[in-house]
Amino acid sequence: MRNCDDGSHGNRVAAATAASVTHKPRAVTRPAVFDYYFGICHARRRGRRIAVGLVVAALGAVGGALFATDTAYVVGLGAVVLGTWYAQPAAKRLLVPAPWSPQRWNYAPLAEGIDWEAVDDWLDLGSGTGRSLVGPAPAVDDARVTALDPFDGRVIAGNDPERARRNAATAGLDATPVRGDAARLPVATGSQDAITACRLLHDLSRGDAEATLSEARRVLRADGTLGVLELAAAHEETDDPLGYWSELVTAAGFTIVASGSVERRDERYFYVIGE
Ligand SMILES: C[S@@+](CC[C@H](N)C(=O)[O-])C[C@H]1O[C@@H](n2cnc3c(N)ncnc32)[C@H](O)[C@@H]1O
Repeated sequence: MRNCDDGSHGNRVAAATAASVTHKPRAVTRPAVFDYYFGICHARRRGRRIAVGLVVAALGAVGGALFATDTAYVVGLGAVVLGTWYAQPAAKRLLVPAPWSPQRWNYAPLAEGIDWEAVDDWLDLGSGTGRSLVGPAPAVDDARVTALDPFDGRVIAGNDPERARRNAATAGLDATPVRGDAARLPVATGSQDAITACRLLHDLSRGDAEATLSEARRVLRADGTLGVLELAAAHEETDDPLGYWSELVTAAGFTIVASGSVERRDERYFYVIGE
């Protein structure tokens, strides 16, 4: 069982488990803030919502001014309020997380909970533009790093293999991006010491999330470690997201060695580490 504490990351890690691991931090020059660019998450979905809201608000304003009757003013004002109300949550979240922020605190439980000294081969599933490579990077010893993702723009605008490679390089990692589907891994059986899947499983159907975890079991060496980082957004309504993600990991044949949550302001992530 491993312990993940908040250390210098300043975040709260709840429900962590026993026995700590000592890491020899890798010598990485601390990059300046704008050295990274991770693209914009859910840009299409949020952009669509903002556009619809703005069009409704604009139609209300123009309609009210054009017709210039009491009714037109009331209807127009209603449309402006409705449009603004509809667009506002997406507008507020558009740059969250900030495209240049590595958000290292998210990944602290995996950076601290995986014995990186024992890792020669690390596969990050759904690595996107590379945040989940950059997060644990300071804890990683020399390892062959593979970043697997379809590298399309469905989830992250600006998601491409070269960006993932560059962000990883800035954090001191030599990563090889591979285009692929986590549910059908183009990777040899028993070839990896660590597999991470950060904020990936909730973006897949439950069937594909289960297939992804089974594939991870196949591809990991017998003594390999799986690290999952997830949102509260499970595939079904639940008031116990940690229990939900833990069950999925266990069902794929893993024994859970650490689990818990990490939170900052109104963001909360759940982690499960399995062997
Ligand atoms: C929310 S992003 C998370 C990116 C990164 N792991 C992080 O922690 O910031 C989800 C990623 O999963 C990728 N993805 C979606 N479907 C996938 C699949 N079937 N196999 C592998 N990756 C997938 C998306 O392209 C996207 O890059």
